[in-house]
Amino acid sequence: MQNPVTVIQSVRLDDQNDTLVLLDQTVLPNETNFLELKEMEDIWDAIYQLKVRGAPAIGIAAAYGAYLGTKKSTAETYEALFEDFKKVKDYLATSRPTAVNLFWALNRMEDRFKQETGKSAAEVKAALKEESEAIRAEDEKICEAIGENALSLLEPGWGLLTHCNAGTIATAKYGTALAPIYLGQEKGYDFKVYADETRPLLQGARLTAWELQQAGVNVTLICDNMASIVMKEGRIQAVLVGCDRVAANGDAANKIGTSGVAILAKHYNIPFYVCAPLSTVDLECKTGDDIHIELRPSEEITSKWYEQSMAPNGVQTYNPAFDVTDHSLITGIVTENGIAYAPYSESLPKMFKK
Ligand code: MRU
Repeated sequence: MQNPVTVIQSVRLDDQNDTLVLLDQTVLPNETNFLELKEMEDIWDAIYQLKVRGAPAIGIAAAYGAYLGTKKSTAETYEALFEDFKKVKDYLATSRPTAVNLFWALNRMEDRFKQETGKSAAEVKAALKEESEAIRAEDEKICEAIGENALSLLEPGWGLLTHCNAGTIATAKYGTALAPIYLGQEKGYDFKVYADETRPLLQGARLTAWELQQAGVNVTLICDNMASIVMKEGRIQAVLVGCDRVAANGDAANKIGTSGVAILAKHYNIPFYVCAPLSTVDLECKTGDDIHIELRPSEEITSKWYEQSMAPNGVQTYNPAFDVTDHSLITGIVTENGIAYAPYSESLPKMFKK
């Protein structure tokens, strides 16, 4: 039977109508609403507001945005079109800082533009469209390969814990950390998945629990502070998380709270796997200290999901959207080209050569 979740296209180009079509991830699980965006400001805002979110999906949306923004240009020469492209690219690049896929996808679009040197504006636009569609299509295959590689680490019947949402809607298809769960389900693995709710934006509760439930996977939602007890009770045999940027030494930035889960997993001797496409691996970034951690508004902690504020008016808050899991806590980094193990400074570059 077709999995009803992995067929959802959370990011899509409607080229005929010059529109980026996005599944609005801020209104799930209560509404399934697709946004149709034409203006660059709206695409920027959709990324910033997490209407489209998850590192690979952000990259795909940005690539489509770069194409649509350039398509609008009336420039007639290659050079003038490049100037317009650069404005769009630089603007979209300011939407979120941590997921390297945003910059990776925009740079790939720029590289493609440069390969078309001297061509007409129409030819360059066609090439940009092709490149953005290729980025989406490749992500689907990459996620499937990550799923297969990660599945080789798991056994039927295992209890798995995941944090945030690294599922099908965060990518072109399948997800990264959820990919082995979907592939395992097709093979009758019967996993029992525990989803951390993931304060403050509740991606685990709103998105992962929704995705897995829709797909018929056995999923149990827990608050973030319950990860320790489910591990202690022996319910978890492996932790699988996604990632926004992996540094050259294997330090991995992912949704806030991930490093705490990794510390708990180490304490309880549970393997902790990071699942990420190579587009998330940033070898230019030496260690996690070089990763820019996004800070987000206070309301996300105090009032966003509540009828009334849940904190005193004007209280100081600190709201980092990501944290860095030290490489020493990571059992393996699962990519589309295989599984990297410590020392990561040696194993990660080899993944690119396969
Ligand atoms: O702020 P978000 O919701 O974009 O954060 C997303 C995550 O941290 C995901 O785990 C990561 O991007 C991987 S998605 C395959």
